[in-house]
Amino acid sequence: MDHPSTAKQMSSPLQQWWHTTTAYQVYPRSFSDSDGDGIGDIPGIISKLDYLKDLGIGVIWLSPIYRSPMDDNGYDISDYRDIAAEFGTLDDFDQLVREAKARDIGILLDLVVNHTSDEHPWFVQSRADRDNPYRDFYIWRRPAADGGPPNDLQSSFGGPAWTLDPATGDYYLHLFSRRQPDLNWQNPRVREEIYSMMNWWIARGIAGFRMDVIDYIGKQPDAGIVTDGSRLHDYLQEMNAATFGGRDLLTVGETWSATPQSALLYSGRDRNELSMVFQFEHVTQQWDSVYGKWRPKPLDLVALKAVLGKWQQALSTDGWNSLFWGNHDLPRAVSRYGDVTGYRVASAKMLATVLHLLKGTPFVYQGEEIGMTNVPFTTIDQYRDIETLNMQRLHVDAGLLPEEFLKGANESSRDNARTPMQWSSDPHGGFSSGIPWIDVNDNYTTVNAAAAIADTASIWHHYRHLIGMRKAHPVIVYGQYRSYLDDDPNVFVYERQLDEVRLVVVANFKPLPLSLTMPPEAQIRGLCLSSNYAARDRIDATIDLAPYEAFAVLERR
Ligand code: GLC
Repeated sequence: MDHPSTAKQMSSPLQQWWHTTTAYQVYPRSFSDSDGDGIGDIPGIISKLDYLKDLGIGVIWLSPIYRSPMDDNGYDISDYRDIAAEFGTLDDFDQLVREAKARDIGILLDLVVNHTSDEHPWFVQSRADRDNPYRDFYIWRRPAADGGPPNDLQSSFGGPAWTLDPATGDYYLHLFSRRQPDLNWQNPRVREEIYSMMNWWIARGIAGFRMDVIDYIGKQPDAGIVTDGSRLHDYLQEMNAATFGGRDLLTVGETWSATPQSALLYSGRDRNELSMVFQFEHVTQQWDSVYGKWRPKPLDLVALKAVLGKWQQALSTDGWNSLFWGNHDLPRAVSRYGDVTGYRVASAKMLATVLHLLKGTPFVYQGEEIGMTNVPFTTIDQYRDIETLNMQRLHVDAGLLPEEFLKGANESSRDNARTPMQWSSDPHGGFSSGIPWIDVNDNYTTVNAAAAIADTASIWHHYRHLIGMRKAHPVIVYGQYRSYLDDDPNVFVYERQLDEVRLVVVANFKPLPLSLTMPPEAQIRGLCLSSNYAARDRIDATIDLAPYEAFAVLERR
C-alpha cells in the first residue's frame, strides 16, 4: 500500500515503513465520546486525529470496533463486517481511515479470530444441532464418561474452558469467557471465511492488523495444547498468502507464549508470516508463580534488563521487536515501572526514554503520553472488566478477603488502563458530556492532555520529542544494541551503534540520586538527544544521576 511518508525513506528492501514509525493504541470505548452516551466512539477518535498527528504517531491500533454484545468489550464479535452501534457506522469508519490517511496515519484493526461471540450467526447455527453445516466452525466434544467436561483445559478468565450446551448435550470450547466460543481453525471453511473478511477490510484501506491471541489458533484441545500447536505457522503462512502478503501492511501478533526462537518463526524475513509479535516476557516475569498478576512482585530491574536485552539481541539481524510498557490488558506503565507518588513526571519520561531508544517499533497506549496512572477504585462495583469480576468471585469463594483482592486489582486489573482518556480538567476529564461507562480517574484535574500540551516540560512533549528523534536518527531504528552494567539493580545503560554513530542511554530507575561509575567504552561526548533533567552532552567516568534521570548522548566518530 502507499503508506505514510515513511515509504519515501525506504532505502533498501530490508527497510520497512513500520520500522521508523511509532504506533498508538486507541481503546475506543474510553478514548473520546462525541455523542454524550458515556461511551467513546469513532467520531470521537476522528476529532482527536490532529492531537495524534501532533504527537508524531504514524499508526493507530484500534481495539475492536465491530458489532458485539460487549461481554469482553468488543473482543467478542458477532458481526465481523459491521461496526458496533455505540461506536458508529461503517461510514464513520471509512471517514476515519480517510482522515487518518490525510495525516499520514494508518489504521490497524484488531483481528479477533481465535473466537467469536456466542451471538455470531455461525455459532447460533453451530449450536443448533449436530448436523448443522456450521457445527464444525467451533470445537464440540462429547462429555467425559462422568458427564463432566472432556478434559481439564481452563479458561483464561477463570473456570473450565468447556461449557455444556443443552441443545445437543455436547461441550464447546472457550478459552476465554463462555460467550467467546473458540473457532475451529482446522476447518478450511473457517479459514476461508476469515481470509475473505480480512480482504474486505484491507480493501477499505487499512494499514494492517493487530492479531488477538494469534498463538492460540493452532490449538490441539484434545492434547491439552493451546498455544504453538503444530499447524500454527502453516495457518499464518496461508493467511499471509491469502490476504496481506505482498501488500506492505503492518501485522503484529499478540503472543503471550512467544520466545525469541518462536518470534523468529513469526517475524523472520523469509517466513512470510507477520511483521512482528508482542511478547510478554518482561510482563510475566514480574508475576507471582502461584497467584500470577493478582500478586505482582516488586520490580526487579536486573531481570527486566536481562529480558529486554535478550530480545534485542535475538532479533538483531532477523525478525523485528515491538516495544511497549502498557496496553488495554496491563496496568499503567508509570504505576507499574515508575513512581506515581513523588516522581510521576520524571519516571514516566525515564521509561519513555528507555523504551523508545531501543530497536523495534514502539507502541504507546492511550494516556501513557500524559502519564496516566492506575485508578484507585475502592469497591469492586467500580470495576467493569469481565476478567476482574470473574477472578474476584473465584478468589473470594476460595477464601481470599475481598479487600485483599481489591489491593491486587488496584495494581493489576485491566480496568486500570481502561478508565477514560483524560483530555482536560472539564467534568469527566473532557471525555464525555454524559456519565462515562467507567469512572474517570480523580486525578484528571491535574493529569490531562490540555495541561500537558500547555507545559513544554511535560511528559507529552517528551514523548513527542522521542517519536521525532526516531524519524531523524537511523541509529535509533537500526543501531546494534549492547548493554552495560547488567548487574546494577538501579540503572539501565545501553548503547546503540550504526556505522560511525553511537548512542548511549543512561536511566536511573530509582527515586534516589546515584553516583555511577561508567565503563570506559561507554564514556562518550557529543550531542544530547534526550534528557528529563538538564541536557548532558557527555558521559564521563563518574556521573551523578538525579532520581529517575534518563538521558541519551549521540556521538559521531
Ligand atoms: C487478548 C485481548 C484481551 C481479550 C482476549 C480475548 O488477550 O488483548 O483484551 O480479553 O484476547 O479476546
